Amino acid sequence: MKVMVVGGGGREHAIIKKLKESPEITGLYALPGNGGIAKDAVCVDIAAKDIDGLVAFALENSIGFAVVAPDDPLVLGAVDALEAAGIPCFGPRANAAIIEGSKVFSKNLMKKYAIPTAGYEVFSDVNRAEDYIIEQGVYPVVIKADGLALGKGVIIAENYEQAAAALKSIMEDKAFGESGNRVVIEEFLTGPEVSVLAFTDGKTVKPMISSMDHKRAQDGDNGLNTGGMGTIAPNPFYTPDMEKICMETIFLPTIKAMAAEGRVFKGCLYFGLMLTQNGPKVIEYNCRFGDPEAQVTLPLLESDLFTIMKATREGTLEQTEVKNSRGAACCVVMASDGYPAAYKTGYPVILPEKMNAEVYFAGVKLVEGKLLTSGGRVLGVTAKEETLREAIDEAYENARGIMFENAYYRRDIGKKALEAKN
Ligand code: AMP
Ligand code: GLY
Repeated sequence: MKVMVVGGGGREHAIIKKLKESPEITGLYALPGNGGIAKDAVCVDIAAKDIDGLVAFALENSIGFAVVAPDDPLVLGAVDALEAAGIPCFGPRANAAIIEGSKVFSKNLMKKYAIPTAGYEVFSDVNRAEDYIIEQGVYPVVIKADGLALGKGVIIAENYEQAAAALKSIMEDKAFGESGNRVVIEEFLTGPEVSVLAFTDGKTVKPMISSMDHKRAQDGDNGLNTGGMGTIAPNPFYTPDMEKICMETIFLPTIKAMAAEGRVFKGCLYFGLMLTQNGPKVIEYNCRFGDPEAQVTLPLLESDLFTIMKATREGTLEQTEVKNSRGAACCVVMASDGYPAAYKTGYPVILPEKMNAEVYFAGVKLVEGKLLTSGGRVLGVTAKEETLREAIDEAYENARGIMFENAYYRRDIGKKALEAKN
């Protein structure tokens, strides 16, 4: 069967490498993919958000199954359009992808179904929002743009001035466009963060191994928020007891709530959790695999990914094995220095001949046979070992062998996790 994967970052590369292990798949296409993915799939120059283009390509090329990986096309209805054209898909329909597409929707869902999350209020008027923050007088306070904002729509304000500036930027200057028509103002929570990516067919939930992202640009969780600078799995804060509590109070209730709302969620649901003193709470939902969480969870997935993907669509996940391997993994993201603000690109990427790690390409392009940097996050280096300590050391050892001008990466991916273990 011919399979197409929509998207073109490190996450999509990890999905493609995993799908390559499936004997049933005879051809793999990436839309648009990137210069590094081109080694593993046929890259087609169609943007992930070009829904008509995706459908036309699938029909013209007898695609038997489509995996829609990024948030934008999911929220825009790529799965609905492909399915309407007769192409079976992995991923939620637009009416379920809204769980990520609108924070107002997801907060109201959690409130209605008593799923633990931070207390909040919703505002569409900037003056009312300011008044509320003054009345509350509690800092830090968390301000979130309602819609998609490239992972930058969350601001943690330490005082009134910062809060007012955030509200102005989101609601008046429209830093994230229409996504800022409404804001969620939320209670600030503390505790270790855990990402859990779970397969679901709308009835059954089967999680992959837990992971931990490192969102800030610099060591020690300093600097700007990024798409993610590295991940480790499993997350040591996520104990078997915690897993049980999350399944009973968060995962299953969420799936049931979506079904009860007539918004059956199929695909991969990402639970961004904070383990607070009062138990685990949802910080955010994503309607897809995380990036770079996929770059550690998929390498640790033992079962056949394609079989699982089909089961989520067909409603047979209960009978389908999702087996995670026992080891640990670490992904170090190598970025263009300056990311997530301004950075230079166009530099050759040189890989050592032998590596003991997987490289998942993100911001690269092929020009006359040469791999050049073309984005903020350039690639991720994932090592898989028996222990977390070994995986971290191995990932860094391999990252040191990869050369491109302006390369930048955090030196402390996994440090917090190791400290938790000791
Ligand atoms: P998001 O863009 O939704 O992933 O949020 C970015 C980061 O902001 C999260 O990973 C958390 O570290 C932080 N954050 C979001 N909401 C809260 C909250 N209510 N309390 C504390 N930190 C938060
Ligand atoms: N790494 C966080 C995300 O994919 O949203």
